[in-house]
Amino acid sequence: MNAIDTRLTTAAARSVYGSVRLGYALIDSPRLAEWKRFGAEGIGMALTDSEPDALAFRTDAHARRLIVRRRPQEDIALGLEIADAGALDTILARLAGRGVRVEEIGGAEAALRGVERLWRFLGPKAMALELFTEAKRAADPAKTLGHGFVTGERGMGHVAITTLKYDATIAFWREIFDARISDFIEDRIGGVNLRFTFLRVNPRHHSIAVAATRGVAMDPFATKIQHMEMQVPTLDDVSDAYRRCRALGFKIMMAVGQHPNDRDVSFYAMSPSGFYFEVGWASQADEDIEAAPQATYQGVSLWGHKPQDQTLGDKLGQMRNAVASLFRNEYAPY
Ligand SMILES: [Fe+2]
Repeated sequence: MNAIDTRLTTAAARSVYGSVRLGYALIDSPRLAEWKRFGAEGIGMALTDSEPDALAFRTDAHARRLIVRRRPQEDIALGLEIADAGALDTILARLAGRGVRVEEIGGAEAALRGVERLWRFLGPKAMALELFTEAKRAADPAKTLGHGFVTGERGMGHVAITTLKYDATIAFWREIFDARISDFIEDRIGGVNLRFTFLRVNPRHHSIAVAATRGVAMDPFATKIQHMEMQVPTLDDVSDAYRRCRALGFKIMMAVGQHPNDRDVSFYAMSPSGFYFEVGWASQADEDIEAAPQATYQGVSLWGHKPQDQTLGDKLGQMRNAVASLFRNEYAPY
């Protein structure tokens, strides 16, 4: 083993648990006008930049948390904030060891995302994952609606991903990011049995949820993420966001309810990009939930979360996607 191999092996052996958080989302969409209303007036983020071809929202001290770039096709890339250069080296060494091609990007592309530099590669389901260590910060407080958003060491929120390659997707998050399993949920939704695994990479109950059908692998969602969640500090903030989204005419896909595992009281609105957007308030600290790790809960909700504005067309669309997915080979990074 030469010196470089030794350094890479040593770096790859270090755990990066606690050094990874969801940092930003870069959404490609042709629907900028709808995103402006949805993000600022509905969800309550602070719109800080509004150009003809790009929008940027803040939820906290970071200069940019959610960026929407005008593109003809819908797509999403996730920015993962890595706490320090050592943890970044570890992750890059693991990717290199598995032959995953990583592109280093600076300049205008990095500035668009509100970071100095980023390291971009394709993760499971061909979703771009972008690593960064230094986010630009704004000098003034974010002018969000209500009481703002819960971020800090927990990151900007969580995402849920449906997959045809359940085991490979979970293995990816565990092997590259040292994700730990918080717990599981099983449920029967729309006639199919689903299993969810909730993965944590920092104190947030989960940053990534992975969902798959049991038995024959099917994916009822055409979007790369099924939903994105942002957490708010009070129950009133959930109630206010729910009422704002309704008043603005955005579809409520699931009305207010509570999840059994993270104890989030939340609702799901349809985002302009076709994935659901969850706004939630946690009734319990994440640390207390960790006391009962790796439980399997039956049912995604303790109460509520009833479909509200879902139409027969939405359900038929999901069935069409599920059937089409049977003939698709989902991308896996290694
Ligand atoms: Fe969620």
